[in-house]
Amino acid sequence: MNHNGNVESYPTWIEVDVSAIENNIKYMLDLTQQPIMLVVKANGYGMGISEVSKLALQGGVTWLGVARYVEARELRLAGITAPILVLGMVTACEVEEAIRDHVSLTLYSREMAEMVSERARQMGAKAAVHLKVDTGLGRLGVFAEDALDLAQYALKLGGIEIEGIYSHLAMAVYGDQPLTHLQIKRFNYALDALAGAGIHPRWVHLANSAAAVHHPDARYNLSRLGSNIFGMLPRVVDPYPPELRRVLTWKARLASCRVLPAGWGIGYGQTYITSSDELIGVIPVGYGDGFRRIPGNEVLIDGQRVPVVGNVCMDQSMLKLPRPYPMGTEVVIIGVQGSQSIFIDDLMKRWNTSEEDIVATLSARVPRVYVRN
Ligand SMILES: Cc1ncc(COP(=O)(O)O)c(C=O)c1O
Repeated sequence: MNHNGNVESYPTWIEVDVSAIENNIKYMLDLTQQPIMLVVKANGYGMGISEVSKLALQGGVTWLGVARYVEARELRLAGITAPILVLGMVTACEVEEAIRDHVSLTLYSREMAEMVSERARQMGAKAAVHLKVDTGLGRLGVFAEDALDLAQYALKLGGIEIEGIYSHLAMAVYGDQPLTHLQIKRFNYALDALAGAGIHPRWVHLANSAAAVHHPDARYNLSRLGSNIFGMLPRVVDPYPPELRRVLTWKARLASCRVLPAGWGIGYGQTYITSSDELIGVIPVGYGDGFRRIPGNEVLIDGQRVPVVGNVCMDQSMLKLPRPYPMGTEVVIIGVQGSQSIFIDDLMKRWNTSEEDIVATLSARVPRVYVRN
C-alpha cells in the first residue's frame, strides 16, 4: 500500500526521503566507480519496492536484487525493465515465468541447475544465472572448490547462461574481520578456477553495503547494496561516511487524550496501572504496523520523549503524556522532532534486533509517502 498522497490523509504514515536515497546512490557510485545492484527485497527494505526501484533506476542504479521471484514479478508488472536477480530459491513453476520475464536466477546447486536447465530447454530458451559461492556465510551456494564443477555441469546440461558469479559476506558489518579476507580469498579461488577453464561471467559481485565502503578489494565489478542506500547507517563498528543520509521517518497522529483516574489499568494484561490522575494518549500504531510489543518504547510529541505505557496492541499504543494535546497532534515513532530523535538504530538496541529486521517488518498497511527533505 504505497501512496503519494498528502500526509494529512493518514492516521499513521512513513515518509521516505527520496532526495536522501538519490544522495546515497550518487555517493556510492562516486566512491566505488562501478555499477550498483540495489537490493530491494522485503518491500524495498520497507520503503516500497516499486517506488524505490523506479527512483533508484533514475538515480543511476543498474541492477535490482530481490529474494523471491514474486518480488521480481511485482517489479515487472510495475513496468520496470531493468535487470533483476533473484537472490533466493525459485520453484520449478517459477523458472518458466522468470525466463519469460527476463529475470536472472541464482544457481547454487546441481539440483537447481537440473531444474532450471530442464525448464529452459523445454521452452527453447536460455536462463540467465548468477553462480552462488558459499565462501563462509553458510547459506546458499557451493564451496569455492566446487564452483567450476557446478559451472561446467550447468553449461553441459544446456539452457543456462552463466551471466554472473557472486558470494555474500557474513562479517562485513563487524569491522575488519579475518573471515572477510578469507571470503575474498575463497571467492578469488572460484573466479580463477572458472577463468582457467575459459568461463568469464560478465558480473562478478561480493560487496554488500559495509564491504563496498570498507573493503575495496571485495568490489569486483558490481556492488550489491541495500542498507546504506536506504539510510541504515551506524553499524556495529566502522561508521559510514557522514555524506550518507537517513531515509525513513515514521509518524502518527494522536487519536485520543484523556485523564484516567488513579488505579486505572492500561491495555491487554493491564501491565500499567495509573498511580494518580494521569493523561493517557492513544496513537494508531501497533505491532500490526511493525511497532514491537517490547517494554521501554518511547515516541516523540511536541519535541519531547514520552513513554509508551501498557502493552502495545495490534493497531494502537497508549502514551503517558505530560500535558493535554488535541486529537491529530503529530507524533514521531522514528525520526526527529525538535531537538529529540529516535532512529532505527535506537530501536535496534531496544528491540534487540537488526535495523534491517525493523524496516523489513514495517507493515504494508502503513502508507509510504515520498518526500524531498
Ligand atoms: C545476498 C545479499 N546481497 C546483498 C544484500 C545487501 O546487504 P546490505 O543491506 O548489507 O547492503 C543482502 C541483504 O541482506 C543479501 O541478502
